[in-house]
Amino acid sequence: MTVARVRRRVSAHLLHPHPVTPTSTAFTRALGIEVPLIGGAMYPCSNPELVAAVSAAGGIGIVQPISMSFVHGHDLREGLRLVRRLTDKPIGFNAIVEKSSRIYEERMKRWVDVAIEEGVRFFVTALGNPRWVVDRVHAVGGLVYHDVTTRAWAERALAHRVDGLVCVNRDAGGHAGQLGAAELHASLVDLGVPLVCAGGVGDERAFVNALSIGYAAVQMGTRFIATTECKAHDDYKRAILRARAADIVLTEKISGVPVSVIRTPYIDRIGTRAGWLAKRLLRHPRAKHWMRGFYSLRSVLQLKKASLQGATYRDYFQAGKSVEGIDRIEPVADVVARFAAAARGASDQDTAPRSA
Ligand SMILES: Cc1cc2nc3c(=O)[nH]c(=O)nc-3n(C[C@H](O)[C@H](O)[C@H](O)COP(=O)(O)O)c2cc1C
Repeated sequence: MTVARVRRRVSAHLLHPHPVTPTSTAFTRALGIEVPLIGGAMYPCSNPELVAAVSAAGGIGIVQPISMSFVHGHDLREGLRLVRRLTDKPIGFNAIVEKSSRIYEERMKRWVDVAIEEGVRFFVTALGNPRWVVDRVHAVGGLVYHDVTTRAWAERALAHRVDGLVCVNRDAGGHAGQLGAAELHASLVDLGVPLVCAGGVGDERAFVNALSIGYAAVQMGTRFIATTECKAHDDYKRAILRARAADIVLTEKISGVPVSVIRTPYIDRIGTRAGWLAKRLLRHPRAKHWMRGFYSLRSVLQLKKASLQGATYRDYFQAGKSVEGIDRIEPVADVVARFAAAARGASDQDTAPRSA
């Protein structure tokens, strides 16, 4: 399919007078799903059963390829087929397109091709230039959304022809942004593409609130760790239930850039700031790629151990401020059904979210 045809398809989805329910948005219509809810990619917490459960429940689960292969031990193609055996609903794929090393870049290109061959048509890109993903995905009629934290990054991503934006706010798990959800939406709404809220949504009230701001969907990470399908260690899940928003701190120790984690005695002991040498190397024009590669490799190993071994390793639990709304471990289907019902209920009480 040509780029022009893909664009026409997206515009048609935005303009088409479909019957609008509170859970029907530009996003759900474009993807052919029921609930405007994304199970965000999570290294190391995205296991195939979790991804499949979010899609089966009516949202869309996103495959994280490094988590799939390195943490959960599936060859990517086999892992995608496993998800397919669990659900025939649409799934998505996360491509972190940062140029940390040529080996990584080549591997990611092969993975994206495998995902396309296996029928994936929705991609969420992060951290670099998404153009090569857009070219490959548009050629088969799929859609690419890019993670952004500011208007400047959003404009750059749109210049590379992405179809929508995942708006990462300051409350998000993983790499957090700087702005609040409403502020970020206001700064991007005139760009004319569907906007997805990422960060701070842990309960149905926050979900309804994000839709009522005008977001076309919500991407959740932390909430889905505390589910029966997620294979993270029970210590990790319990730490999420116990934590309050005030317990979430940003640390540079994991990847060199701030990442949200639950404050634990271990985090207090090692501190949250990168050392001066690491900082200088991260800024250096040539050394920065090596330094990022080093951090990535180290963090990939540390996070895998913390997620699978729990408190017997080190308390390195990534989570966002949405922990505040999470008080039980439950099946994914219950979470998605509860959130969808709340959105529908909100409209019954005439507090309907605006259809995005
Ligand atoms: C443990 C964890 C790992 C994450 N890993 C990734 C990742 O590999 N790629 C990515 O694009 N986003 C990643 N994220 C971000 C999530 O996809 C999502 O945008 C974020 O969790 C939303 O904020 P919330 O945790 O408050 O729901 C991660 C988030 C968490 C909590």
